[in-house]
Amino acid sequence: MDRIVGSAVVKNYENGKVTVNVLKQVDLVIDSHDFVGITGASGSGKTTLLYVLSGLERPTAGTVTLFGKATGDYSDRELALLRQRKIGFIFQFYNLIPNLTVRENVELATVLADRRDPKRIDAVLAMVGMLDRKDAFPNELSGGMQQRVAIARALVNDPEIIFADEPTGNLDSVNAADIMEILRDLNRTHRKTVVLVTHGEEFLKYCNRNVRLADGRVVKDVRLDAV
Ligand SMILES: Nc1ncnc2c1ncn2[C@@H]1O[C@H](COP(=O)(O)OP(=O)(O)OP(=O)(O)O)[C@@H](O)[C@H]1O
Ligand SMILES: [Mg+2]
Repeated sequence: MDRIVGSAVVKNYENGKVTVNVLKQVDLVIDSHDFVGITGASGSGKTTLLYVLSGLERPTAGTVTLFGKATGDYSDRELALLRQRKIGFIFQFYNLIPNLTVRENVELATVLADRRDPKRIDAVLAMVGMLDRKDAFPNELSGGMQQRVAIARALVNDPEIIFADEPTGNLDSVNAADIMEILRDLNRTHRKTVVLVTHGEEFLKYCNRNVRLADGRVVKDVRLDAV
């Protein structure tokens, strides 16, 4: 099933009087079973593509269809709801709230989405191996642990799509491999669509597809045999 369809997607940013043309006619269909690894040089447009595919931003031209409807046809409110309930985000720098505990950080996502469910909070913390640290504060945790909490937060509302922007960028290779295995498990066992931006070619072995960007265009789109 097609989960995300980008058609002739153009994204420009206005920098004062200068228009920066970041995405140039990107066509991309992401299937619900996909675990896509998006690669490309710094500045090639990977983060921009993630923002546009996830409805965080709307394309300047072309269309992105999410769950059967173009992001341009959703209201801001509808897009916000979609992001709270059907989409999970994981970032390089975790973005946990420092004065909330692990459990409270995850709980906040359920409160914002108006989906309080204490049992589910414990279940996702257990899934990422962080239940025993639920009362810790982020600064008491290693980077790998903080990223696990960020994954729990992304999962707590049971989204259908996970977008991750260089989630291993700040981690050593052992922690990075753990995070990649969690993402692969989410894709395979929990049937989540996963769209991952990564600098590291070594992480593509977990993905079933590689989309490569160069200067705002798709220059490669291949199926992979995931390990
Ligand atoms: N809000 C913005 N305003 C103006 N230009 C922007 C904006 N966001 C991104 N750009 C420009 O768009 C281009 C692509 O940026 P993007 O962040 O998508 O690249 P990237 O592939 O994610 O790079 P990296 O690997 O360094 O994270 C860059 O030239 C960047 O300067
Ligand atoms: Mg980026």
